[in-house]
Amino acid sequence: MKLIVQGGTPLCGRVRVSGAKNSSLALIAASAISGEEVYLDNVPKIADVKTQMEIVRALGGQVSWEGSNTLRLKWHGSLNTDIPYSMAKKIRASNLFLGAMAAKKGTIKIPLPGGCNIGSRPMDLHLKGLGMLGYDVSLEHGYIEARPGKLKGCSIYLDFPSVGATENIMMAAAGTPGTTVIENAAKEPEIVDLANFLNAMGGRVRGAGTDLIIIDGVSEFKGTRFSVIPDRVEAGTYMIAAGVTGGEVTVENVIVKHLQPVIAKLQDVGLTVDANEDQITVKRTGDIVATDIKTLPYPGFPTDLQSPMMVLLALAEGTSLIVENVFENRFQAADELKRMGAKIQVKSHTAVIEGVQGLSGAQVKASDLRAGASLLLAGLAAQGETEISCAELLTRGYERVVGKFSSLGAEIKCLSEEDDGLELRTSLTASEKEDPQASRASS
Ligand code: UD1
Repeated sequence: MKLIVQGGTPLCGRVRVSGAKNSSLALIAASAISGEEVYLDNVPKIADVKTQMEIVRALGGQVSWEGSNTLRLKWHGSLNTDIPYSMAKKIRASNLFLGAMAAKKGTIKIPLPGGCNIGSRPMDLHLKGLGMLGYDVSLEHGYIEARPGKLKGCSIYLDFPSVGATENIMMAAAGTPGTTVIENAAKEPEIVDLANFLNAMGGRVRGAGTDLIIIDGVSEFKGTRFSVIPDRVEAGTYMIAAGVTGGEVTVENVIVKHLQPVIAKLQDVGLTVDANEDQITVKRTGDIVATDIKTLPYPGFPTDLQSPMMVLLALAEGTSLIVENVFENRFQAADELKRMGAKIQVKSHTAVIEGVQGLSGAQVKASDLRAGASLLLAGLAAQGETEISCAELLTRGYERVVGKFSSLGAEIKCLSEEDDGLELRTSLTASEKEDPQASRASS
């Protein structure tokens, strides 16, 4: 799939942020723990959710859309214990069925997961956690297998506050007898969402959002209805888009606190940011100035917004530094941005970005989801036409990305060989132009 972007138009208007991809993927897996029906509201219709739904079905669970953004999930009867390689290779979050299915069935076999090509992404902390809870865990022929041994809560220290490992251990421990303590746990908002969801199903999880999470294992989980938090990365992408195009964009349906690290950097570069209850307006009134960014686990600056921020810094006055501390291979957008006139030098974990007056349209290729987002932002800021290939990667994490950007005035055409049902349309319907909310209901 290709996107053809005509740059140079300042983006203006309001955009409603969808439910969080990373939360939805964890919650879909976690629903397996319950024996009763679970409803998840505010789930984005994106490719990664579609893949996670395929995995639910492959494991014998039932999942369907009920209305625009609600998923109905039910896990009962005899469930399978294997996830097919063809599905796991598409998405890193397939690994989250490890903890959930361990809690549900005791036994689970998953292929080593795939996902974005941004670094080696090992699973050692996940395996260490399950092993300490008493699972016999093996890694052979590309498959991880967990079988129940003598299961008992314990104290687990994570060398790094891995989001996925924290989630897997929380889910497995939620159904393991005794008390489990995770030290140096990840503090991301999606971890808090998962803890709240587990508790809504009858789990007993405390401390999520701090680096010490305490889980008292329970034996039964009930059904529930739960609404996923807004996607802070999608919100951040539209906020940065206002800056790179020199416009004014209001993101609606956000949790302002989750975006504080992003707001602080946008203010540093000279953008005006007004936050108010559940919406944030970003406006560019003058030049962008250089700044330095270090990506860190939450509440540090999110690695998922590092490449979109690189576009903003490429247009700043002066020289900026980005240090990537979370993934070792996350500067892949840099070479493509250089095709568009950006001046970026990458050495190991650091990118040096010398600001230029403007970018120019070019043919570029998305290497991963967030690199794709940065190329879209660069295309919108550039003079002339940008052709982005492998643009289907954007559908992994951005709901109705073409429709939403178009509603802000972006000129984007989507050349797709097939309609994959993810609403990558080239233009808005008449009703959406009059009422951007209408577009949400139709998705
Ligand atoms: C999640 C997010 C992803 C985000 C990332 C960091 C999902 C589906 N994805 O990915 O969007 O960019 O958090 O905020 O929620 N690590 C190990 N050993 C392990 C596990 C991780 O060394 O067992 C390392 C990784 O190589 C990486 C770092 O920890 O360098 C962070 O990874 P992690 O927090 O686990 O990210 P994910 O959960 O994969």
